[in-house]
Amino acid sequence: MAIKKKVVVKKVVARPAPKKEFSKKPIVAAKKDTAPAVAGKKQIQLLRGMKDILPRDQYYWKTVFEAAQRMSEDFGFNRIETPLLEEASVFMRGVGKQTDVVEKEMYVFEDRDMEKVALRPENTAAVVRAYLQHGMWNQPQPVKLWYFGPFFRHERPQDGRQRQFHQFGLEVIGDASPVIDAMVIQMTYLLYTELGIPVSVQINSIGMPEDRTRYKMELVQYYRSHRATICETCKARLMKNPMRVLDCKEDSCQPIKANAPQIVDYLSNESRDHFMKVLEYLDELGIPYFLNHTLVRGLDYYTKTVFEVVTSDEEQGSQTALCGGGRYDLLVEELGGKPTSACGVAPGIERLISQMKKRQVPLPARRTPQVYVAQLGDLSRRKAMVLFARLRAEGVMADQDFSKGSLKAQLESANANKIPYAFVIGQKEVQEGTVIMRDMDSGVQETVDFNKAPQILKRKLGLDKSVE
Ligand code: HAM
Repeated sequence: MAIKKKVVVKKVVARPAPKKEFSKKPIVAAKKDTAPAVAGKKQIQLLRGMKDILPRDQYYWKTVFEAAQRMSEDFGFNRIETPLLEEASVFMRGVGKQTDVVEKEMYVFEDRDMEKVALRPENTAAVVRAYLQHGMWNQPQPVKLWYFGPFFRHERPQDGRQRQFHQFGLEVIGDASPVIDAMVIQMTYLLYTELGIPVSVQINSIGMPEDRTRYKMELVQYYRSHRATICETCKARLMKNPMRVLDCKEDSCQPIKANAPQIVDYLSNESRDHFMKVLEYLDELGIPYFLNHTLVRGLDYYTKTVFEVVTSDEEQGSQTALCGGGRYDLLVEELGGKPTSACGVAPGIERLISQMKKRQVPLPARRTPQVYVAQLGDLSRRKAMVLFARLRAEGVMADQDFSKGSLKAQLESANANKIPYAFVIGQKEVQEGTVIMRDMDSGVQETVDFNKAPQILKRKLGLDKSVE
């Protein structure tokens, strides 16, 4: 039977506070999120474009990581982790020397052995490097890999654009079938919608290099006929990488872009059939998509299908690209392997979390402590530490403030955190080998055997039916 028991509270002797030396300098309020300045010490700040991921945001990151992991495992993908630092040529050859990512944004330097190395700006090329280096072509194909980690691009920082950012990525290597493209798009679509973000897919086919040769000639000719109107960037792109003119965001170039020749009209039968099949699969899956003939993507390795997943910002009447992907049937060969088809995608995590916050997406319920372990004085603190460890070993989540001495403060903390039970150990309980178990809602207390306490609590919580 439950009995009411008076809690033993140790007397706390109040000591006078030590005298403080007060500075004569005026007190200046510290800026939000910065520590008060100490005279003579310059406070070190983050590098531009870098961000700390603080404890207050960690639950978003955990939720997204777990959703990405579950999605990958459900579709039979295995995780791969490649180093943050690679030989620069992985990306120069893989992504392309004339892409913005390599030419303008990559963190590249010589290390102490004078080797030219780069902080990875993306992972597709590095995953293909690993696929080749570890002989994964010998395994049953396709090899399906996923990753989650940080990437680096020296871009101009702005909303949704950082110098260190994170991607979740999927790469399917060793299969040319259009069903792979559709599966990668389906997984991406499911990830966003399951996390509460309404999205649609912008899709295009840029064919194979042979398809593009004739198209590029037509495109250059068309743009040259508008030379007087197009922006300087487009003029430069026409010389170096003509299809990137379709990426131009300048207002003056938009009417020219809208009437430009379309790549789909230049695709070979094989490329066109592939694209049609991908679209048929998406129709079957009910995934909303829009054909976007100006979508070309900024990385050189793409062939055939390219896509981006976008979400609408109703307030601003604009669309935000959340991720990009596509097929890269020539990259394995480019990095020294035999011809091997592949396809993948990489959702940006910061942009995803920013959407979850903007849309106030509810996060899954957190694990919360089921019991609070309170103690009174040094001897009982030792026992409380033992009890805490035993509870943990039994799978019961407990909370504690072992550095606190006041029982009132400890029980208030348990109440504030809505913890249903508390164990209280005072000197009397230490001597008797017992512990007080308190129902925090009703205030009812009972004294239980110290060694049996975890089991008795588990029974109360409905976690262990075996104890009488
Ligand atoms: P990407 O379009 O360069 O593609 O990047 C994919 C996503 O990463 C972007 O849509 C965005 O969400 C995020 N992202 C890129 N740069 C930044 C940045 N500076 N700050 C914040 N987020 C950023 C790739 O990286 C390809 N490797 C995707 C892929 C995988 N294609 C085939 N497989």
